[in-house]
Amino acid sequence: MQNNQILKNTNAKLLDEFNASLPFDKKLYKYDIAGSIAHSKMLALQNIISISDQEKIENGLKQIEKEIDEGKFEFNIEDEDIHMAIEKRLTELIGDSAKKLHTARSRNDQVALDFTMYVLDNAKKINQKLKSFIEVLLNLAKNHIDTYLPGMTHLQHAQPVSFAYYILAYISMFQRDYERFESLIDRNNYNPLGSAALAGTPHNIDRFKTTNLLNFKAPTQNAMDSVSNRDFALDLLYNISMVMMHLSRLSEELILWSSYEFKWIEICNEYATTSSIMPQKKNPDVPELLRGKTGRVYGNLISLLTVMKGLPLAYNKDTQEDKEGVFDSVETVLISLEIITEVMKCIKINKDNMLKACKVGHLTATDFADFLVKKYNLAFREAYYITKDVVSFATSLNKDISELSLEEIKKANEKLSNIDSEVLDVLDVINSANSRNSYGGTSKEAVLVQIEKVDSWLKKSK
Ligand code: ARG
Repeated sequence: MQNNQILKNTNAKLLDEFNASLPFDKKLYKYDIAGSIAHSKMLALQNIISISDQEKIENGLKQIEKEIDEGKFEFNIEDEDIHMAIEKRLTELIGDSAKKLHTARSRNDQVALDFTMYVLDNAKKINQKLKSFIEVLLNLAKNHIDTYLPGMTHLQHAQPVSFAYYILAYISMFQRDYERFESLIDRNNYNPLGSAALAGTPHNIDRFKTTNLLNFKAPTQNAMDSVSNRDFALDLLYNISMVMMHLSRLSEELILWSSYEFKWIEICNEYATTSSIMPQKKNPDVPELLRGKTGRVYGNLISLLTVMKGLPLAYNKDTQEDKEGVFDSVETVLISLEIITEVMKCIKINKDNMLKACKVGHLTATDFADFLVKKYNLAFREAYYITKDVVSFATSLNKDISELSLEEIKKANEKLSNIDSEVLDVLDVINSANSRNSYGGTSKEAVLVQIEKVDSWLKKSK
């Protein structure tokens, strides 16, 4: 059983410890067993093994699955990896029939299969979580069509937008993430089983049969590529990094907005934490951890890219290092999506403070300039300079541009002495947001179109 047996020396224990992947790849047992059952069925259908051997193999594998499920399986590091551990136990259970299972197969294609199945399965799981999260965000947007806050560029007040619109911007990011996983599933839906060590096999196997049994789109095209390819895992790590980057950006805003300086939102008590020394504190640990974990997830991506970068064809043991980072990223993104969904479900939005913030920083200055262009046919650049005078004048009065009276506006620049009182409506922050009615803009009408689009996207995405 042990392929290192002949070479065993006094340092065998040290070698086992260094060489083994069993402590972490045991996570793959379900895929390994499903792959082995499909392989045995194909071998029987092709008359490579007998039907009775196949039945024994299948029953034995099902029993092993049950033993692992129930925590009764004894994992032994000397078995090196999950593939060897299962095969050894199968031999204990059914004897010589077990030795036929590995016909026309190598651990190289076996691990590629198990890991591909793990990646595809978890891409689907992540997408389920993404979808639930988008549903919660959409609900939040629907409840805040009439909530306004300063939209920023350079983290400086720029133009007023609705909170619904803000949340819809995040929804767009997470929709792209969802679609990225869908395309990962499509791009990597190929079965490497039957590639054998690197060059295929002289046995009369039928790779299309295992492909159907395991629900893949098609067998992989080239055996040498199949056993050394880890692109599917890298796709997953990149996609997860993107999700985490988006979550981290949202987290940054939640952290800022819950500070005393902003006070735009409040994270509900169930998902906030306290300080062990400062009794007054309520800390945004969840978004901070999301932001922090993003770093680790990026690390996993870079780490596997680095493992792969110098590898000659075909299989190299280096690729055993592919798993832990992927498992870590998958577990991290799943729990991250779960917790942010809960946080966003119960988040409190301080509508009044958001609106108050819209009246600081002359958010409607651009509206003023646009009004001059539209109403008086001024060139934009000229309107821009006149508006600058109005902003300076308002600042000298310690007021926001939206708080100026018509008389004050007239005094700001001589060209404004006859300005129409209509301008006061234009300077209103809510009117300002709702005037941006271009497709994809922040007006109520444009926001309702976006909400409708996400609604129908949610209905059609499985
Ligand atoms: N434990 C190995 C891995 O994770 C399985 C493949 C081993 N193949 C081999 N030829 N040693 O990559």
